Amino acid sequence: MSDPVVLSLPPYYDAQEQNHDFGNIPNMYFKEALRKHIRALYGNENSDGPWSVIAIDAHNLILDILGNSEIRAVLKTHAIKTGVRILEAPTSSGIESAFAELPRGFRVSHAPVVLARENLIGVVTVVVADETSTWILDTFTKSIAAAVERELEAEWQLRDNAMLYQTLLSHLDYHVVRIGSDGRVRAYHPIPIQDDVHNQMLIHTERTPDGDIDLTLGDRLYTCVLRTLTHPTGLPAGRLGLFRDITDQRKIERRMRETDRISILASLAAGIAHEIRNPLTTAKGFLQLFAERQLSNPDHRYIDLTIQELDRIGRLVKDFMTLARPEPTRYQRIELNHLVQELIHFMMPEAMLHGVTMEFGTERSTIYVKGDPNQLKQVLMNILQNALQACSAHGKVDICTTQKSSSAVVSVRDTGVGLTKDQLGRVFQPFYTTKDSGTGLGLAICRQIMQEHGGSIEIYSQLGEGTTVTFQLPVVAPAPDSEIQNPRLLGNPGPSQV
Ligand SMILES: Nc1ncnc2c1ncn2[C@@H]1O[C@H](COP(=O)(O)OP(=O)(O)OP(=O)(O)O)[C@@H](O)[C@H]1O
Ligand SMILES: [Mg+2]
Repeated sequence: MSDPVVLSLPPYYDAQEQNHDFGNIPNMYFKEALRKHIRALYGNENSDGPWSVIAIDAHNLILDILGNSEIRAVLKTHAIKTGVRILEAPTSSGIESAFAELPRGFRVSHAPVVLARENLIGVVTVVVADETSTWILDTFTKSIAAAVERELEAEWQLRDNAMLYQTLLSHLDYHVVRIGSDGRVRAYHPIPIQDDVHNQMLIHTERTPDGDIDLTLGDRLYTCVLRTLTHPTGLPAGRLGLFRDITDQRKIERRMRETDRISILASLAAGIAHEIRNPLTTAKGFLQLFAERQLSNPDHRYIDLTIQELDRIGRLVKDFMTLARPEPTRYQRIELNHLVQELIHFMMPEAMLHGVTMEFGTERSTIYVKGDPNQLKQVLMNILQNALQACSAHGKVDICTTQKSSSAVVSVRDTGVGLTKDQLGRVFQPFYTTKDSGTGLGLAICRQIMQEHGGSIEIYSQLGEGTTVTFQLPVVAPAPDSEIQNPRLLGNPGPSQV
């Protein structure tokens, strides 16, 4: 045994580099895996069995020394202690040089810890102070290294899966709820959701039978996959719920279906509308002639009624034609407040007929948009007509214009009958009407025009309280002075054009 009081370190120790790399992740796991294994074998890491086990990392740094305290004390006198890096001595290679001068009777065995065949994590070294046979000692050392390798492989696999899981989750737009068989809940939400929606997701994940279903949670629609999980061993592994918000997707699909329907209608209408109009004009002409000759006949009013009905068919056909072969859009710069006020003026007699007051308000003196004045007037007229028809006497219709960043906004609010949720979902469908004399094309045409103008139209309603229809258009820069002053260039909305 060499001098136990080694004050100066042998040349193979690098005390300067103590703790270098000590806390890196492979080292931490290596150390922990070794401790775990020794604990499993002997109940604690420093049992006084006749051995000491040392963890040394891939760069010869001593990470941990466990086991017999007397052996550890001797190792310490040879500067073999935690945090020391073993340098290669000129006479021997690797870590063996560090153990070469241990007292007589001490035996040392090393076994590498290698992951995935080629990644050297470190070395497990076992030191005994008795006559244990070399074969047994080597086997013991290798078995510890193998156990550590298994533990690390499992840990790596787990981390790998967790990483994969996280990466997948962050790229999916699913809300994921996992309830373990022990009742532990883990949830992932790609976007924040309200607490009560989260709670409903938990309840469905826990209780709703397996299946793929659509659910309304809060005010959103989700498509849900609900599954009971089973571990490969056959044991229950809890429940999984996947929830994807499909509210917007459904809206887009519905719109596309409606657009499809409109374009089918349009081509149908284009074919027949023209054919209807010609005989209609002839029939009306002859009837009018006939009516003039029968002024004294008491049945004269029936002829008038028939003419009125023919007029109604005529209007319907005209609306059809608007959808089918819309007039080419003629864009120009329009001062919106001017256009709106002109139209309100034009609609005033109808409002008075209904006993309804109409009021105009604006937050800006001028708002310029690019559009076809006739088409925009048609939109506003449809909306105002609906509002007036929805109101009873003493009702009120407020028209307001404003500008929000790059959009001009026109809103028409009435104090009319309002709409149910179901009605509200259908108002833009062609031919949806609740009126005896309505065609149900008004709002469908409005939406088509707004879409062509790069704008949008929305309707909000409360049954029994009233309805607000809002449409938006992109604003444009004001015209040079000369243009603004000239109302003709603003698409002078004479009533006859409406
Ligand atoms: N302001 C409103 N208040 C209450 N209901 C409305 C309002 N606007 C529209 N609606 C409802 O939406 C339906 C569809 O409106 P739309 O303008 O498309 O057709 P219409 O008014 O029935 O017929 P048309 O406009 O061809 O004369 C109406 O029948 C009505 O039930
Ligand atoms: Mg209408």
